[in-house]
Amino acid sequence: MRESHRLRIAIQKSGRLAEKTIALLVKCGLDFELRRDRLLHECKEFPVDLMLVRDDDIPAYVADGVCDLGIVGDNVIRERQVQKTNAIETVMPLGFGTCRLALAVPVAMECRSAADLAGKRIATSYPNCLRQYLKQVGVDAKIVELSGAVEIAPSLQIADAICDLVSSGATLRENGLRPVEVLFESQAVLIRSARALPPAMALDYARLLQRMNGVLQAAQAKYIMMNAPREALERIQEIIPGMEQPSVIPLGTDGSHIAIHAVARENVFWETIEKLKAVGASAILVLPIEKVIA
Ligand code: PRP
Ligand code: ZN
Repeated sequence: MRESHRLRIAIQKSGRLAEKTIALLVKCGLDFELRRDRLLHECKEFPVDLMLVRDDDIPAYVADGVCDLGIVGDNVIRERQVQKTNAIETVMPLGFGTCRLALAVPVAMECRSAADLAGKRIATSYPNCLRQYLKQVGVDAKIVELSGAVEIAPSLQIADAICDLVSSGATLRENGLRPVEVLFESQAVLIRSARALPPAMALDYARLLQRMNGVLQAAQAKYIMMNAPREALERIQEIIPGMEQPSVIPLGTDGSHIAIHAVARENVFWETIEKLKAVGASAILVLPIEKVIA
């Protein structure tokens, strides 16, 4: 058991999730000096230590109680299947690091679905997920387990197809591959050890969670301001259903025009703005929100 009464969070040291994980923690008010050559990073002003490790090791650190929390791709959790031991719990998705685990084949290969891969060799670093999927769809293929650089397996002729994470799709394109099936979608998640925390740490955890929720909700919310004819208010509320109890301020003296100020619990796209203009709104301002605390 650890002596310290500081919450310890395992995060990816470098890779797809590293930068956005750090950005999220900074937005939560954690203040630390990042040094990639160091394992533990003490936060000032908040009893949290960050442990920078390989993403694949994060579930095990949390399961073993070396860390209390972890930020990792759901794909890693699924592959490790540690959740089955009930040692860790997924607290919430974090909205970044979105990707999918997909089957991909060389562009020239004739293959329309997983069924066409029967009897073929599929390279992957996700053997558990792939095995489970192939069983589900009733396809008998040979799994070639690789720890990295899976995308070059077909050109090296050690496999006919691959099963790997696809985010932008650039890696597949660069290697002359195309996706044929998606096994599942994934994103970064917050995980915690299933063990109960000592009371003081539980309090710090609750504070951190509230901050994280505040940051995540803010990411999807916008502050919107506009002027409009009074009779357009109802239609404007239909255009932005996520707009909560807008402040309506009369403009001028005849009451025909109003200013609307509101938090919209949704992203406001150009299409939405065009619709607002079409019902008579003008001087439309859409502002990002930094924190939302209910
Ligand atoms: C994944 C995957 C590809 C790349 C795909 O690796 O193995 O290499 O991302 O991204 P793209 O579609 O945007 O090109 P990841 O960054 O998760 O590294 P890891 O497997 O070493 O953890
Ligand atoms: Zn990894």
